[in-house]
Amino acid sequence: MKTVAVIGTQWGDEGKGKIVDMLAADADVVVRYQGGNNAAHTLVVDGKKFVLRLVPAGALHPGKACVIGNGLVVNPIALLEEISDLKRSGHLADDALFKISYDAHMVMPYHIAIDRAREQRLGKRAIGTTGFGIGPTYEDKMARVGLRFEDLLDFKFFSEKLRRNVAEKNAYLKAILKAKPVKADEILDAMKKARRRLMPYLCDTGAYVSDAIDAGRKVLFEGAHGTMLDIDHGTYPYVTSSNCVASAVFGGTGIGPGNLDAVLGISKGYTTRVGAGPFPSEFTGYLADSLREEGDEFGSATGRPRRIGWFDAVLARYVARVNGMWALALTKLDVLTGIDPLKIVVGYQIKGKHYDRIPPSHRMLINAKPIFEEMPGWHESPASARSLAELPAKVRNYVDRIAELVGVPIAMIGVGKEREATIVVRNPFAD
Ligand code: GDP
Ligand code: IMO
Ligand code: MG
Repeated sequence: MKTVAVIGTQWGDEGKGKIVDMLAADADVVVRYQGGNNAAHTLVVDGKKFVLRLVPAGALHPGKACVIGNGLVVNPIALLEEISDLKRSGHLADDALFKISYDAHMVMPYHIAIDRAREQRLGKRAIGTTGFGIGPTYEDKMARVGLRFEDLLDFKFFSEKLRRNVAEKNAYLKAILKAKPVKADEILDAMKKARRRLMPYLCDTGAYVSDAIDAGRKVLFEGAHGTMLDIDHGTYPYVTSSNCVASAVFGGTGIGPGNLDAVLGISKGYTTRVGAGPFPSEFTGYLADSLREEGDEFGSATGRPRRIGWFDAVLARYVARVNGMWALALTKLDVLTGIDPLKIVVGYQIKGKHYDRIPPSHRMLINAKPIFEEMPGWHESPASARSLAELPAKVRNYVDRIAELVGVPIAMIGVGKEREATIVVRNPFAD
């Protein structure tokens, strides 16, 4: 297959970055299509850890084109810092291979101020956003007042638009949110400098990606967040402000549905969530704490401890449906070593009624009591396994049971954080 989308199947942090980095070896172009620097994708290569927020996780392979599609909301200052960091470590050497869509929207300081002030005011009802201004930037996009990279072509036009926005946002910040206003002059100074560095990367990325597909090149689409954080299909309102499902590839890049060959879903062998909202398979206490430590389950974007839960097959079946999933990559099986028995959610009890599918209203998940199936755990770590044959039998049984419950085959099994620590059962680019 030539075009593959990698999507998160839970509430983010499933290990997408590691899988994208691995698959990027076989791809020519790697494309982000939604979200912003609320994403944090961790790659471990030659013992060194990289956290990519906006730059696609193909960046660690020389010679691969990396594209930021129109569907993203990009903090231009954060992006330039990320590019500089990568260049310092010898990556992203060829500027001609890094592309930013003219149509992508820019996160401005007033978006960040609004995001944070709103969360503070919500108190106990806060969403637990990353505080990076993502929601307010998408709001402006839909309200047709957003600033896009194309606006930088004419800095006078950009300045006028920005000043108009700042006047309006400051009125809102001061009067409604009781927060500090932002300074238009400071933003314009920073953007004047940033503009010079950003301009060479601007590109008609829709045409660029389409041309690559037409030329028979392999294109990898890197999803951010997870399906349960999708604005339409996730646990609204405890979601992010973009579509995170595979269909967002099309709106977020400018290619059509007929151009995508496969959707690879990424899931942990258990579940985590950062931020508030329903999480039926969640558990707390000693076991959750030790799993959090073992799996290093602290948000790569904000450092917050991640909430911990069992693998939820009800959600996974739903996610397979909304994404038209070809196969599943299961990560972090090494982290489950020593937990015996393991539990898998196979249904819910909600107000006395049994559900083996996700309930029609996601709000009902707040009261969902999980129905578990128990599986024997394992005590022999699978960390050194590099093939199915080397995988301890009990790990194999667990993985096979998940595939059966979800109704999609397993393509990859993650047994460690390093690039090499993945058993590849099916490589979509080799199929
Ligand atoms: P993403 O946002 O989906 O890219 O995931 P994150 O990078 O935020 O979080 C996943 C974490 O798990 C990172 O720290 C990865 O290095 C790590 N990771 C990914 N796959 C595996 C695996 O199979 N085993 C272990 N132990 N760690 C993994
Ligand atoms: P990656 O790509 C985990 C969560 C936030 C919060 C909610 C809304 O690394 O998987 P936002 O700042 O987007 O408005 O916050 O969404 N969230 C993520 N959680 N991984 C992510 O990205 C996330 N992106 C957003 O924690 O609950
Ligand atoms: Mg992450």
